[in-house]
Amino acid sequence: MGMVIFSISVLSLLVRLAVSCDDTNFIYNGFKKTDLHFDGIAEVSPNGLLRMTNTTKNQQGHAFHRVPLRFKNNFDGSPCSFSTSFVFAIVSQYTDVSAHGFALVFSPTEERSGALPSQYLGLFNPANNGNASNHVLAVEFDTIFNIEFGDIDNNHVGIDVNGLRSVAAAPASYYAGDVGTFKNLSLFSGEPIQVWVEYNNEDMKLNVTISPVNVAKPSMPLLSSAINLSAIMYEAMYVGFSSSSGSVITSHYVLGWSFRINGQAPALSLSNLPLLPQRNKRKTTTSLKIGLSLAGVVFALGTLSGIGFLVSRKMRFKEVVEDWEIDYMTHRFSYKDLYKATRGFREEELLGVGGFGRVYKGKLPTSNIEVAVKRVSHNSQQAMREFVAEIMSIGRLRHRNLVQLLGYCRRKGEFLLVYEFLPNGSLDKLLFAEQWPTRVDWNQRFQIIKGVASGLFYLHEEWEQVVVHRDIKASNVLLDSEMNGKLGDFGLSRLYDHGSDPNTTTHIVGTMGYIAPELTSTGRATTHTDVFAFGVFVLEVACGRRPIEHGASTDSLNLIDWVRTCWRRGVLAETRDPKLGTDFVMQELELVLKIGLICSHPSPAARPSMRQVVQYLHGDLPLPKLSIAETGSLMST
Ligand SMILES: *[C@@H]1O[C@H](CO)[C@@H](O)[C@H](O)[C@H]1NC(C)=O
Ligand SMILES: *[C@@H]1O[C@H](CO)[C@@H](O)[C@H](O)[C@H]1NC(C)=O
Ligand SMILES: *[C@@H]1O[C@H](CO)[C@@H](O)[C@H](O)[C@H]1NC(C)=O
Ligand SMILES: *[C@@H]1O[C@H](CO)[C@@H](O)[C@H](O)[C@H]1NC(C)=O
Ligand SMILES: *[C@@H]1O[C@H](CO)[C@@H](O)[C@H](O)[C@H]1NC(C)=O
Repeated sequence: MGMVIFSISVLSLLVRLAVSCDDTNFIYNGFKKTDLHFDGIAEVSPNGLLRMTNTTKNQQGHAFHRVPLRFKNNFDGSPCSFSTSFVFAIVSQYTDVSAHGFALVFSPTEERSGALPSQYLGLFNPANNGNASNHVLAVEFDTIFNIEFGDIDNNHVGIDVNGLRSVAAAPASYYAGDVGTFKNLSLFSGEPIQVWVEYNNEDMKLNVTISPVNVAKPSMPLLSSAINLSAIMYEAMYVGFSSSSGSVITSHYVLGWSFRINGQAPALSLSNLPLLPQRNKRKTTTSLKIGLSLAGVVFALGTLSGIGFLVSRKMRFKEVVEDWEIDYMTHRFSYKDLYKATRGFREEELLGVGGFGRVYKGKLPTSNIEVAVKRVSHNSQQAMREFVAEIMSIGRLRHRNLVQLLGYCRRKGEFLLVYEFLPNGSLDKLLFAEQWPTRVDWNQRFQIIKGVASGLFYLHEEWEQVVVHRDIKASNVLLDSEMNGKLGDFGLSRLYDHGSDPNTTTHIVGTMGYIAPELTSTGRATTHTDVFAFGVFVLEVACGRRPIEHGASTDSLNLIDWVRTCWRRGVLAETRDPKLGTDFVMQELELVLKIGLICSHPSPAARPSMRQVVQYLHGDLPLPKLSIAETGSLMST
């Protein structure tokens, strides 16, 4: 027996040695002569730089090795070890923000068809993100802090399996053996960075190591993650790079690349790599940095980014204005103009005080356009930088049911957002006004609900990226002169996700009564939590009651529970706002109340999408039948 086992294991060892992975390798010291497949805006410059993105915004670029490589052992089908090294540089128009990022990709196809730019990095889209049938492995170099995907910061390296929520991530840094610690590194400093990605099939460890190009390979990897590539890799996979830009002009470059299956990737010839284009604007910061002694670097990095920030603020003022005007039709306003417009932020001009700050009415000095100016105070400089990038992107949203953001102004720990002015104010003021008869009749309410639904549908599905509103409620719905409802404040809540604000460190974004049950436990806002809040909003409008009525009898304290109970008793229509009197259409009222109930269903999976809600409201799709489960909870079938 012992003999048999012994000989089998020797045999398998021999077989493993004899029949294993093909030893395939290639090396590019510059890309003048390449065997790459390009798409999107990726191209090779005359001096051999692989330029993944150019100065065109919101684009993606891909460059894949033209021939697929064999990633599985042809004897037992186990994944092959591999190793790769490359040098990249990210050059942003600014020193303090960049867009979006770039990744090394292993993909079943040499195209990422259907992928989106911006935060999707040219790899995925909202429908396929995270789906195991993608068979995609990527190492991302991400320069935007994106909450949706659980990002850790705006300067990180991550290992992505089938989606953008990294399985492992770390702030960009490298191990310095002499000091025995990790040193931070800015991915978008514009300086070349060398990367080593190595996978060993024995211990299934995927290691990622980075360092500035003039520093030898650190002895410890930045990431070392156990990943079973069996189910992820197909036998044949394409390997290459994917990159995406957003609203800030950013170029992603690859200077050289080597790859090897079943062995150590050939060393790049660093002195033969193509040179990056000259950069003018950022020179001061860079030359200063070089002049500093090594010991001072850690301290200086902090100070420098502060200086860089101030300098760039001054220097780029004009630039930013031009940029925004042309590309986003949005303006950076001068503080002086806003001060004048609001007559020095006088109390008489105060329109309201919300969770995010005070809102003033104003009239712009030269154009005489009426605006609403929201002052948001914030102490975190970091948060501001990220927020500006996001607001720049959100400023491009255009929909008749969204309050238009006209621009912003940034100033000492404070942000000023300039919105179109809506003369009829917020819906909740009218809904809960003491006046009798009510000023919002049934027809108007129905139109407002339809309008808000289509605005939210646009945010969720029709724009190029998914925008979660996070704070839908009657007081965030503003009315224009024709009583059309417009959603306001979208994206603003993101400010609280970036960095901490002393007063709101444990801020769950949202408003009591509108917060979906799963949000309190996961803390993660999604389109489903938006749908929940929309459901509450709909009930609020139809019933003329706040989601949580303080002082009401206990069984009607919670609006959802109360409407649900009335529906079970077969008296759904009686929950309508008494102020409506006889002014309502029974069929529409019931439709609206039922939509309110299914949207505010406790289980996220049972809620409809905003696309379906819009279809229900327009009669294009029949409402699912509501029924009661054994547990007494609501079901839609
Ligand atoms: C960026 O690259 C694309 C594709 O090569 C090209 O059409 C576009 O003009 C380029 N933009 C700039 C500003 O160079
Ligand atoms: C994942 O993608 C496959 C193939 O495109 C699709 O059939 C499946 O429904 C997707 N799964 C999820 C959870 O979206
Ligand atoms: C490095 O960056 C991380 C994340 O941004 C930060 O928490 C840490 O304090 C930084 N370390 C140094 C030494 O600056
Ligand atoms: C990955 O890193 C770990 C920890 O430093 C090391 O033990 C392992 O040998 C490395 N694997 C490869 C393939 O470099
Ligand atoms: C790796 O995954 C494959 C297929 O998913 C599985 O058969 C194998 O047992 C896994 N290996 C380990 C060590 O978990």
